[in-house]
Amino acid sequence: MNVLGIESSCDETSVAIISDEKLLANLISSQDFHSKYGGVVPELSSRAHLQIIIPLIKDALEKSNLTLNDIDLICSTAGPGLIGALLVGLTFAKGLAFSMRKPFVAVNHIEGHIYSGFLMEEKPEFPYLALVVSGGHTLLLLVESFSKIHKLGSTVDDAAGEAFDKVSKLLGLGYPGGPKIQGASENGNPKKIKFPIAELKDPYNFSFSGLKTSVLRYVQNNYTIKKNIPENDLADIAASFQKAVVRALIKNTEKALNNLEVNSISLVGGVAANQSLRNSIIELGNKFNKKVVIPRMEFCGDNAAMIAFRGLKLYELGYESKLNFSPFPSLAKEHFA
Ligand code: KG4
Ligand code: ZN
Repeated sequence: MNVLGIESSCDETSVAIISDEKLLANLISSQDFHSKYGGVVPELSSRAHLQIIIPLIKDALEKSNLTLNDIDLICSTAGPGLIGALLVGLTFAKGLAFSMRKPFVAVNHIEGHIYSGFLMEEKPEFPYLALVVSGGHTLLLLVESFSKIHKLGSTVDDAAGEAFDKVSKLLGLGYPGGPKIQGASENGNPKKIKFPIAELKDPYNFSFSGLKTSVLRYVQNNYTIKKNIPENDLADIAASFQKAVVRALIKNTEKALNNLEVNSISLVGGVAANQSLRNSIIELGNKFNKKVVIPRMEFCGDNAAMIAFRGLKLYELGYESKLNFSPFPSLAKEHFA
């Protein structure tokens, strides 16, 4: 079965083709121009998706040595995400499905991330703990099957990626914040500043907004304007902040490992690209003797391969979406218990 996947929820347009579960193409076009605005400008994002989507589909077919007629199933991200951006990929996918009389499956973006470990050679084994860390979400989940996801905890304010982006902005490092903070941290001392991590009543929930504020206070108390932060200090602040985020994420994951029987751990989402977090999850897996699956970089950030894979699994489970399916900007909870 040849599956075409389309992802356009934020600032990446991506088109992928999988044949059964074999990846034939996963093309990702990143809208780098948003960096000059310090964040994603929704309207510009929609327009850029519109411009690139057809050439990207043509390139993906060519790379896969297939024609449009060889496609058996069309899948697209339906949300959560930016409404205008989502509309481009979703409407395009529905139009294609209609004109080709092929089945169409709308895919929840977060579910795409949750199962993205299956794109790797070494796959997660059910039940597994999924730590989903992206720009919009931070979730700790018990994934029991392709149709049952139990939510253990989530952020009560900012997402982990959002915290990276906001702290990067306040340090004057630019957007997207994750890679900038990671880069700045390389020569820094993570033990220099002890930034606090939130202790919440619910053991599996996260909070990053207090951490962000404490970085802001630290900068305000020690420097007059951000341009005055010497490079060495900047590296120490970035490294100490990164360490605090990683500590918060690992702490709850460790609690879950102490309380639940799982076969593996999967770290997914854009922030899963963070080297320090990847190392810490691997260490945690070793400590508990659990298999750890972290997707390679192209499957961490937004990509259509994960959408095609999730769409295929949904189709196999008997799901098919109607062509009047509407995008949903916030998280739809169909498979979450
Ligand atoms: O999953 P994703 O591509 O988009 C959403 O679904 O939100 O995640 C994007 C987020 C951004 O906040 C970005 O700063 C963060 O992932 N990110 C990182 C790294 N690379 C990307 N965060 C920390 N370290 C990185 N290396
Ligand atoms: Zn994402």
